[in-house]
Amino acid sequence: MQLLDSSERYGAVSRLLHWAVAVLILWQFLGMGLKLIFGRNDFVGFFVGTHQPVGFIIFVLVVIRALWALASRKRRPDHGTGLVAKAAAAGHGLLYALMIAIPTLALLRAWGGTRGFAPFGIEIFAPREVEIAWATSLAGLLHGELGWVLAVLIAGHIAMVGVHESLWRDGTLRKMAGRR
Ligand code: HEM
Repeated sequence: MQLLDSSERYGAVSRLLHWAVAVLILWQFLGMGLKLIFGRNDFVGFFVGTHQPVGFIIFVLVVIRALWALASRKRRPDHGTGLVAKAAAAGHGLLYALMIAIPTLALLRAWGGTRGFAPFGIEIFAPREVEIAWATSLAGLLHGELGWVLAVLIAGHIAMVGVHESLWRDGTLRKMAGRR
């Protein structure tokens, strides 16, 4: 098994981080989508109840992923040249920026809020007596909205993999999912 990335394909570490974050982010959208469609009931409440701890895990994994990408930047498959390549690089940059900004905003709200934050019973932020309004209102304004922007961007990301596979047949998916 190839652990590190190469110019041909991503290694096991990058793949594990990519697919783990993908599954967890889809879980977040499933829960928030169900809440949007059905409102809060016992069934939807289960998904909503997992949102904060799962979001925290995503935050930790995305920070590790971004550092790993930075450390591996010289030995990764490149995007090539031309306009499509530039658009792909910009799209991936935006995906990273949103994956970091969205949970960071939520954590900022948890930090500034009065309830404290203890995912899996581990206290990250203690409850405080007075809310820090700028921190909570920033996330109130942007967290959910940027979340849905990320959902659209991920749909575009998946659609582009479909174009690579069915139209251009250039083996793009193989770099992140295939054996060789
Ligand atoms: C990448 C990770 C995350 C994604 C993609 C995400 C996405 C979303 C989306 C799409 C919404 C729905 C907004 C709406 O109602 O229209 C939402 C709501 C919310 N998120 Fe996140 N989120 C993430 C991480 C987090 C984290 C780390 C926390 C807390 C520390 C958090 C706390 C919340 C809260 C409290 C709500 C309101 C939910 C409710 O109505 O009970 N999120 N999020």
